[in-house]
Amino acid sequence: SVLIVDFGSQVTQLIARRVREAGVYSEIAPFNAAEEAFARMNPTGIILSGSPASVLDDGGPRIPDVILESGRPILGICYGQQSLMHQLGGEVTGGDGGEFGRAFIEIEDECALFNGLWNLGETHQVWMSHGDKVTSLAPGFRPVASSPGAPYAVIANDEKRIYAMQFHPEVVHTPDGGKLLKNFVRHVCGMSGDWTMAEFRKTKVEEIRAQVGDNRVICGLSGGVDSAVAAVLIHEAIGDQLTCVFVDHGLMRMGEAEQVVSLFRGHYHIPLVHVDASTLFLKGLEGVTDPEAKRKFIGKTFIDVFEDEAKKIGGAQFLAQGTLYPDVIESVSFTGGPSVTIKSHHNVGGLPERMDMKLVEPLRELFKDEVRALGRELGLPDVFVGRHPFPGPGLAIRIPGEVSRDRCDILRKADAVYLEEIRNAGLYDAIWQAFAVLLPVKTVGVMGDSRTYDNVCGLRAVTSTDGMTADIYPFDAAFLSRVATRIINEVKGINRVVYDYTSKPPGTIEWE
Ligand code: XMP
Repeated sequence: SVLIVDFGSQVTQLIARRVREAGVYSEIAPFNAAEEAFARMNPTGIILSGSPASVLDDGGPRIPDVILESGRPILGICYGQQSLMHQLGGEVTGGDGGEFGRAFIEIEDECALFNGLWNLGETHQVWMSHGDKVTSLAPGFRPVASSPGAPYAVIANDEKRIYAMQFHPEVVHTPDGGKLLKNFVRHVCGMSGDWTMAEFRKTKVEEIRAQVGDNRVICGLSGGVDSAVAAVLIHEAIGDQLTCVFVDHGLMRMGEAEQVVSLFRGHYHIPLVHVDASTLFLKGLEGVTDPEAKRKFIGKTFIDVFEDEAKKIGGAQFLAQGTLYPDVIESVSFTGGPSVTIKSHHNVGGLPERMDMKLVEPLRELFKDEVRALGRELGLPDVFVGRHPFPGPGLAIRIPGEVSRDRCDILRKADAVYLEEIRNAGLYDAIWQAFAVLLPVKTVGVMGDSRTYDNVCGLRAVTSTDGMTADIYPFDAAFLSRVATRIINEVKGINRVVYDYTSKPPGTIEWE
């Protein structure tokens, strides 16, 4: 296994992800618990993360001596590199500018990290983000690559198998970064790379058992992939000590609520309380047109209903959530620093504070595509696991203006036609999110010999890797006109269809 020592970088989890992709098991330990983690794990190799701190500050985090003296292969990234040099007798200086963003390094010497990847004299793109830099190497190290701003962009000590780089190999903007990390774990550490999602499942099942003991757990299902995967995994670990509560707000897509119920009850035999709260939600949404007011009401009501049900069930000390790593970062930046709230995603936070329960969050270190892989591993059907992301407030934020049961029904039908055509054309998996919106505008049309005066439906489809930025999906005209014709013919209440050509930014993916 690999121990990743976390010095507090925003992207440490990406290191773990790349190591998983290389088929190697890893654990992240904060620097101040690294010594204990090292003793417990007895890792084959160690990776040191970046950090917002500076080694030049008093009290900046340090690498535990046991790790430096262990004789195991070590890879230092950014702050990890600087702390290696600082502690092993090199020199780090700060203050004159640094490098931020794309940079190009030149390969000056051979290195085990470059094995089969980079050759002498080549130039490669990397992602830098550093204020301080290494200005003199510790004994035994040699430079193997440099950039204009970092003479020691990559350094090596072959005898001790310690390697370090100033840039961040874990981010996508270092195109070969994943391969560099793979070379470290496979080639330098000599690990076989046969670790899989099946193993992740086993490890997590044991962790959940250890955490929960004989206690009871409740899990709120949203109908989405994340909470479903978390619930199935937890059920595998603790069986019927788990009860799931599915708060059905009536704002789901066509057939979705039924699918969740039949999957859980019929297929997995997981105890499930299905609360049909659609009337409560739709009543409360009457007269509400402001998007944030919709979100707030739905978020609060969701918690109220869930809390009531939890009380009825009684006796649970743990609350399970399908929190993913991007939720962790996003919710931090939403509540923490100066970044503005664009939209308040209701499914992150809120519940735990209110309910005073301990959390079980087995997916906390995973990214969306990894959760899908885990879901498949657990036997969830492909069509379920591969579903596009769906916002917590559901169709309410796809119906600008006032939401009603009738309008939800109209939208559900149009959306189902659109998605069916996308699936039939084999495009579903190439698209990050596709959905219909129902506009609060009526326009005039003519069908047969009669005048119509009905709603406009908007179609949206985007590609994205993380939902933070997005591009429109370029359907061909024949596809779009087929969908438009079908929707207008088959969905009563819609007589015009438009396609949304806005990327994000400046648009957001959802219309509200
Ligand atoms: P936007 O519209 O902000 O969406 O570009 C980015 C991603 O987040 C989803 N989204 C939400 N998810 N609660 C959620 O759980 C929300 O209130 C919410 N608003 C947007 C959106 O579907 C997309 O995947």
